Amino acid sequence: MVVMVNIGEADKLRIYTLAEDYAGYNSPFLAQHGVSFLIEVGFDGNKRRILFDTASYAEPILFNMEILGIDPKTVDMIILSHSHFDHTGGLLGIMKKINKEIPILAHPNIFKVSFAMEPEFMYAGIPPLRGGSKEEIEKLGGVWILSRDIIKLMPGVFTLGEITKEEKVEFERSTTISLYKLENGKIRSDDIEDEIGLAINTKKGLVVIGGCAHPGIISMVKKAVELSEITKVHAVIGGFHLIEADNERIQKTVEALKELGVKRVFVGHCTGLEAEALFAREFGKNFEKLHSGKVIEI
Ligand SMILES: [Fe+2]
Ligand SMILES: [Fe+2]
Repeated sequence: MVVMVNIGEADKLRIYTLAEDYAGYNSPFLAQHGVSFLIEVGFDGNKRRILFDTASYAEPILFNMEILGIDPKTVDMIILSHSHFDHTGGLLGIMKKINKEIPILAHPNIFKVSFAMEPEFMYAGIPPLRGGSKEEIEKLGGVWILSRDIIKLMPGVFTLGEITKEEKVEFERSTTISLYKLENGKIRSDDIEDEIGLAINTKKGLVVIGGCAHPGIISMVKKAVELSEITKVHAVIGGFHLIEADNERIQKTVEALKELGVKRVFVGHCTGLEAEALFAREFGKNFEKLHSGKVIEI
């Protein structure tokens, strides 16, 4: 693992929820299955915009961007948290609007063939017609930066890279979803090793963002803390894929978040109603449900 000597600190952080499974109450925004965040980071008088995930479809994201007054051309880089269609499906449509040279950060296994077999066969990876092929995205200006290792993007901002089995906390070593992948024509169980997260060190502490948090949100937060040596965690944001988890795992997740001293939780997407209800009870006003159009100011 690469050790970062100085991760630095972001001066400002604002996160726009461009796509989420919930539209919000009385909101003009469009919902869809998946997540997409526009992460606006301020440092040393500069402002950068990171597009984190592209949900299932580009159109509702572009619609929401217009309401929020965000020009797709102002996006400086893209991060794909993992290969699943509800995080990569909007890539082609959005790249057509961005249409400039732009880094796209992801895990080297982002293009793998993964699928579910229950209740029926379903391809789970990048959908070719909506997400585009590697080459199509390159033709539109995308520069693939495929890394298992962490990458520092700007002061305070770094990707978490692959969360290895050894790095995971005990209770998160199994996935909460049954998927398979092909390796040289053989079927293997898919432990979704391709999920990378993002961490931002702010004046208030670390903010950790996951797509589905398939490696486990606790393991992701712990890695961010270890890499940065910043022990204060201000917020965790994303889908935590506890929708198929048993009560014990949900309970342990909440306990571990509290033990880590996480102050605020912003959850939605694949977190599931039961986990969300427990988060709401345990975190009170520091729990916030994500929805399309929600703007988070840190
Ligand atoms: Fe997801
Ligand atoms: Fe996923």
